[in-house]
Amino acid sequence: MSLIAGPIALRDESHSLALARALAPHLRAGDTLLLSGQIGAGKSFFARALIRARTGNPDEEVPSPTFTLVQSYEAPGAEIWHCDLYRLSDPFELVELGLDEALGRAICLIEWPDRMGDMAPPEALSLAFEARPDGHMLTMTGNADWRARLEPVLG
Ligand SMILES: Nc1ncnc2c1ncn2[C@@H]1O[C@H](COP(=O)(O)OP(=O)(O)O)[C@@H](O)[C@H]1O
Ligand SMILES: [Mg+2]
Repeated sequence: MSLIAGPIALRDESHSLALARALAPHLRAGDTLLLSGQIGAGKSFFARALIRARTGNPDEEVPSPTFTLVQSYEAPGAEIWHCDLYRLSDPFELVELGLDEALGRAICLIEWPDRMGDMAPPEALSLAFEARPDGHMLTMTGNADWRARLEPVLG
């Protein structure tokens, strides 16, 4: 795992939106994105923008999966799973939710990935969000494969 980009200043929501839209077409079936950061850091906003871009439906309802823990979407090329594991009490629940089976098959966007313990795929792309007094920030880390794949997005 090494630094791919950041900290990137996401000065307002339009910056998060633009980055999510740029990233969306580069994702493939089996990719996992781990979205970390405190409450209010901008994880769900980014996930929602990415899901809308990837489904091609700007009006797609993307409720926060705070209580359902997972929410899935049909999209070209791969199903998308949006997960919010804040309320997960035991990583074993991931099996009941079917997330273990979705990892490696769907595009998985996972908020609060620390709750997964060692079920988090080591080859995942990590997006660490932070809300600072001077604005929202994002740091991306991942392996060399991600670095190569994101080159066209990040320049
Ligand atoms: N880049 C940004 N700049 C300013 N505000 C943002 C940005 N990204 C998200 N927000 C806003 O911050 C608030 C919290 O975002 P949210 O995605 O719900 O956080 P989280 O899921 O991390 O708890 C929302 O009102 C959202 O619209
Ligand atoms: Mg959230």
